Amino acid sequence: MLLDITDPEQIASVSQRIADDPAGRPLRAVINNAGIAINAPVEVLSMEEWQRQFDVNFFGHVAVTKAVLPALHASGGRVVNISSIGGRIAMPTYGAYAAAKFAMEAMSDSLRRELAPHGVQVVVVEPGGVKTEMTGHGIERAKDTIATLSPTQRSRYGELLQAIINQATSFTDSGLSAEAAALVIAKAATARRPRTRYTIGRDAAVLTRLSRILSDKMLDRILAANLRPHYPKPHGA
Ligand SMILES: NC(=O)c1ccc[n+]([C@@H]2O[C@H](COP(=O)([O-])OP(=O)(O)OC[C@H]3O[C@@H](n4cnc5c(N)ncnc54)[C@H](OP(=O)(O)O)[C@@H]3O)[C@@H](O)[C@H]2O)c1
Repeated sequence: MLLDITDPEQIASVSQRIADDPAGRPLRAVINNAGIAINAPVEVLSMEEWQRQFDVNFFGHVAVTKAVLPALHASGGRVVNISSIGGRIAMPTYGAYAAAKFAMEAMSDSLRRELAPHGVQVVVVEPGGVKTEMTGHGIERAKDTIATLSPTQRSRYGELLQAIINQATSFTDSGLSAEAAALVIAKAATARRPRTRYTIGRDAAVLTRLSRILSDKMLDRILAANLRPHYPKPHGA
């Protein structure tokens, strides 16, 4: 059934459909997977876009989870929240996306600790680069952003945005297939004793480990060094 997770009426009709299931089947799991990527510097992104990013990538998932929790309590089911390596590390221009994913991580931690005594498990999945339509959509949005930059914003952020587009393209080209990612998500949803967190892809596993052990300053240097080769070459270079 089609569902816009930012529409309270549609969410209500999903929970009603679960309650009215003629076969009385229990709800095994909810996988909060929907997402959009809006990349722009904090200074440039409009408040409407900030709101939209949070509406889809965070508040929508909170609303769906709340709506299906009665069914999950009844079934001893499971919540699987799809976060991102962006829920661990916030790269430049990923402020809104990463902020919503950090929020998803925090909400998941609270929810897990609240529901554990009641037999409902909460699992977080953190993918790195996966070949899906997300990067293409994100790149289109970033290009639109570049087109609407003021001259001052362009001088500040134009090259950064182009570097992020180039990096995102190569990140996803070397990313896992959606099928490989789906297998990990299926495991998170069905394993008898699931882990609290699953990373998807070597990039996510390495970055997650680095984020735990490195100082912020060291991480800043590594992220900047990784981005440097993706900056547009000066004319004639
Ligand atoms: N791809 C990656 O490299 C990557 C990395 C880390 C994390 N993730 C996370 O993985 C999840 C899935 O992303 P993906 O890579 O599969 O991207 P995708 O191919 O763009 O799929 C995103 C899905 O979310 C749906 N969606 C968007 N807004 C929605 C709304 N308001 N209500 C209901 N559904 C909505 C889209 O439906 P429509 O097409 O109908 O709009 C689409 O099916 C996201 O949470 C994303 O943040 C992806």
